[in-house]
Amino acid sequence: MADNASLPTQVKIVEVGPRDGLQNEKLQISAEDKIALIEQLADAGVSYIESGSFVSPKWVPQMATSTDVFNGISRKDAVTYAALTPNMKGFEAAMAVNASEVAIFGAASEAFSQKNINCSIEESLQRFEPIMAAAKAANIPVRGYVSCVVGCPYDGFIEPEQVAMVAEKLYKMGCYEISLGDTIGVGTPATVTKMIQAVSARVPVEKLAVHFHDTYGQALTNIYSALQAGVMVVDSAIAGLGGCPYAKGASGNVATEDVLYMLNGLNIDTGIDFNKLLAAGWYISDKLGKAPVSKVSTAYKAQ
Ligand code: HMG
Ligand code: MG
Repeated sequence: MADNASLPTQVKIVEVGPRDGLQNEKLQISAEDKIALIEQLADAGVSYIESGSFVSPKWVPQMATSTDVFNGISRKDAVTYAALTPNMKGFEAAMAVNASEVAIFGAASEAFSQKNINCSIEESLQRFEPIMAAAKAANIPVRGYVSCVVGCPYDGFIEPEQVAMVAEKLYKMGCYEISLGDTIGVGTPATVTKMIQAVSARVPVEKLAVHFHDTYGQALTNIYSALQAGVMVVDSAIAGLGGCPYAKGASGNVATEDVLYMLNGLNIDTGIDFNKLLAAGWYISDKLGKAPVSKVSTAYKAQ
């Protein structure tokens, strides 16, 4: 039983550190070190690991090793090893390395769509159609992302209805889950709750995930608000790594360590071993030559 009747008793953590986290790190991490991180996360009980992306290496150099990463992981049956795929070229590359599933990524903001994937929202949906068809034929689940669900670095505030419209389109195209990305971390419980209400009027709330970057330190409280609104899937990155290369100033995702500490405190089950997770966070942070961006991790280190 969770400690609060309006909260779920179980939450699925979608670990995006090896992809979203590392994609914005300037220091090139070797495929071997990424593989070791992914295996440590799986060993800690993380059941879903976004392990890389098949995008243009000119756009995101850190992800250029994704083929080696997927080929090198010793896989566990219970773990989903997912990849981001913006187009058919990416989808085919993901299939060539047996990614368990793929994610397509669109945006609620026109300007961000252009900067991130070099096309309009409408064009992006057209590009996703063949991926959806190929994935269906290959029996590969597709997750859908919507970026800039509260604000955009170029277009400013984004209307909840606009987010709902894009989320509904991705859902109707066949995405089994829609991850709502506060790419630049500007949301507060007020704006996040309104946005989730608008989206869940069109997409069942049990099909939604939340994806918060922690630029303004609001991520944990926003996650708590999302859980109260019925969301049961939370994206986070080990050690709070990363940011978004196409959203200037955006800081990393909320740290998985901090999310787990909160969920454990609320008696919400995730299946993740806290100490092993902390160790994985220190492992990759040492490789990057910095401390984890996680208050929980820092506090435990000091004990
Ligand atoms: P484009 O330039 O319009 O594509 O980029 P193109 O089809 O004209 O191809 C240009 C070049 O890219 C060609 O190579 C293609 O072969 C190559 P060239 O002939 O110049 O040598 N190319 C590819 N290479 C490898 N894999 C591919 C691929 N596709 C084309 N799949 C494109 C369009 C989408 C490819 C580009 O804009 C791109 O790669 N963007 C990726 C951006 C990205 O990864 N952003 C970060 C992830 S999204 C995110 O972080 C947000 C999220 O976390 C949620 C949130 O926080 O809100 C998900
Ligand atoms: Mg992100």
